[in-house]
Amino acid sequence: MVAAIGRRGELGFGNRLLFRLKADMANFRRITAKTPLVMGRKTWESFPKRPLPGRPNIVATRNLDLKAPGAFVFSSLPPAIAAARAMAAQAGIAEVSIIGGAEIYAAGLEIATHMTLTEVEAEQEADVFFPQFDRKAWREMSAVRVEMDADNEEAFVIRELERRV
Ligand SMILES: NC(=O)c1ccc[n+]([C@@H]2O[C@H](COP(=O)([O-])OP(=O)(O)OC[C@H]3O[C@@H](n4cnc5c(N)ncnc54)[C@H](OP(=O)(O)O)[C@@H]3O)[C@@H](O)[C@H]2O)c1
Repeated sequence: MVAAIGRRGELGFGNRLLFRLKADMANFRRITAKTPLVMGRKTWESFPKRPLPGRPNIVATRNLDLKAPGAFVFSSLPPAIAAARAMAAQAGIAEVSIIGGAEIYAAGLEIATHMTLTEVEAEQEADVFFPQFDRKAWREMSAVRVEMDADNEEAFVIRELERRV
């Protein structure tokens, strides 16, 4: 799973991201460069240019009429994730990326083994929040702090978490 949250778990507002963080976007592109991406319909629609290039975009929606050119559409999450896994396996890739939003993360928290969680050191008005989760169930493998600068409007920490077994 890959997510960026504010201090209160904020994810988005008005179907947009909350913070302009170039270094975090670069990290997102790096870690998801080849993996199939699993996302909800609103996250899909939030991208100014879609699909995100170079990897399968897999969208969950309950609207069977949804047109999402360039994406693979599924009406529930288990087959979406199964398809993502199959596409990854076919490409010789070990991971799939679950990239939000809130309901998709809630389901992802049940199955994900690794999480890249960017914690922004700021608060913003939001209408979507990351689900509550048990931090103790996750071991921190690394934490990298990025200072605020011209490209990153807030300071943030990118944490690599691994589910404890
Ligand atoms: N900060 C971050 O890391 C991050 C990451 C991703 C997104 N975001 C932000 O979060 C917001 C979007 O997230 P969101 O939570 O509002 O929406 P979302 O999860 O992207 O999409 C919600 C939609 O996905 C479909 N869906 C969800 N669960 C499903 C299921 N189990 N089976 C089938 N379809 C399912 C439904 O689509 P239908 O209504 O079409 O049926 C639902 O309305 C935006 O503001 C975006 O910028 C932030």
